[in-house]
Amino acid sequence: MDYLPIFLDIAGKKVIVDGGTSVAARRIERALGAGAEVHCFDPAPGDEVRAFLGRAGFTHHPRLAVEADFATCFVAYGTSEVPERDALLYAGAKRYGALANVADEKEYCDFITPSVVERDPLTIAISTGGAAPVVARILRARVEAMLPAAYGRLALFVSRFRDRIAATVKGSTARRRFWENMIEGHAGDAFLSGDEALAARLIEEDLAGANRKAKRGQVWLVGAGPGDPDLLTFKALRMMQHADVVLHDRLIGEGMLDLVRRDATRIDVGKRAGNHVLSQEETTALMVRLAREGKRVLRLKGGDPFIFGRGGEELEEVAAHGIPVVVMPGITAAAGCGTATGIPLTHRDHAQSVVFVTAHGKDGLLPHDWTRLVRPDQTVVVYMGLRFVAEIAAAAMAQGVAGATPVAVVDNGTRISQRVVSGTLADIGSKVAVADLKGPALIMIGSVVTLRGKLGVEGVVPGTPHEMALVARGGL
Ligand SMILES: C[S@@+](CC[C@H](N)C(=O)[O-])C[C@H]1O[C@@H](n2cnc3c(N)ncnc32)[C@H](O)[C@@H]1O
Repeated sequence: MDYLPIFLDIAGKKVIVDGGTSVAARRIERALGAGAEVHCFDPAPGDEVRAFLGRAGFTHHPRLAVEADFATCFVAYGTSEVPERDALLYAGAKRYGALANVADEKEYCDFITPSVVERDPLTIAISTGGAAPVVARILRARVEAMLPAAYGRLALFVSRFRDRIAATVKGSTARRRFWENMIEGHAGDAFLSGDEALAARLIEEDLAGANRKAKRGQVWLVGAGPGDPDLLTFKALRMMQHADVVLHDRLIGEGMLDLVRRDATRIDVGKRAGNHVLSQEETTALMVRLAREGKRVLRLKGGDPFIFGRGGEELEEVAAHGIPVVVMPGITAAAGCGTATGIPLTHRDHAQSVVFVTAHGKDGLLPHDWTRLVRPDQTVVVYMGLRFVAEIAAAAMAQGVAGATPVAVVDNGTRISQRVVSGTLADIGSKVAVADLKGPALIMIGSVVTLRGKLGVEGVVPGTPHEMALVARGGL
């Protein structure tokens, strides 16, 4: 994070806006909205700025600013697009200790102006750190669209109960849960649908029974998908924002844990190449203990919990202790990697079925019957096989599978670091050794692999920003 997000209290303070442009009008509007005393300097402002004449808190100076004008100034905005004026504004601001922001002139900016969604008193500020303001504006439009207009009023409404909740609900965790249930539960729904009286009654009822409920934790087994955070489900995201403790695999992609509630405890229970952090038994025991303490425990697993994820075992073991468990699906690596690399796992002309197999089980490499799996009309996706690519290819060929059978190894699929090595059963082992892939990786076997070149360039419409980045880098 290059910038620290803060909200400034500028009520009653002096804000200078230098310039009479549309940008100036937007700065004036926002500063007046936050209660500032706004001084605009410009000999001939445009209509949008003149529209503020006469507004309380607004003073227009029909001249250029001089350094002395910045005395007692708190924030100075440059919008004139005249280099000399910008330089003077910055010098004046620095002389008197004001914060400066000159539109599109990074070296004259102490801060950046975010895109803002207002649901007074709720304010959402979005920034890309100056990298791509258009992205922030697009996001703002999306947030505007999805956030009910009454959300700000809901915040005001529930704030009336703040003292009562503090006095009635014991313990910070219980209080946070009470707030969440109030806002996202029936009371919030009633308020947003216009029934304030019902909302108030529901809150009163909840307050009356608040401390009667026994502390009861639960476990959520949630699939996080193959790595690209955009491939999380809405449910997974919601759970990530509600959990008290998150137990995650090492496979959870970069950026994913940033989406977990800030004050949730994060525990890495993952394991890589035999370096166990926590055993399966220890992980389950930890989930049970935390849930018994009344915590909402999120077990975040790569891909889908029930596909080579031992989710079934965890579910059984936790449920056996009488703890409620909820399972949420995720996009499994095969589905994510196929789409992100332009390899359709099924295709009418190539494969009418797809099988997912794991390369190894509890006791090492599995003795698969490759002639049964690798057939002309079927795609085989091998999980957990990167370390055994050469052995798998050799075993398949020894059993009689054609050495010319197409194979692709997808490493870190859907992530920005995605790489694909393609070849045939005969040469894939040596190609993968040269590529020095780090994993996690999947091995895809079958003629669909040859479609990658054909569909990958023009035919595939990228589905996520990560894939778009890959396209831009020629990665697809
Ligand atoms: C223990 S399994 C977990 C599979 C997961 N439950 C799923 O549904 O994708 C781990 C294996 O999944 C595959 N995998 C997971 N994420 C991947 C990714 N982003 N790219 C390629 N393979 C991946 C690799 O074969 C890795 O060894």
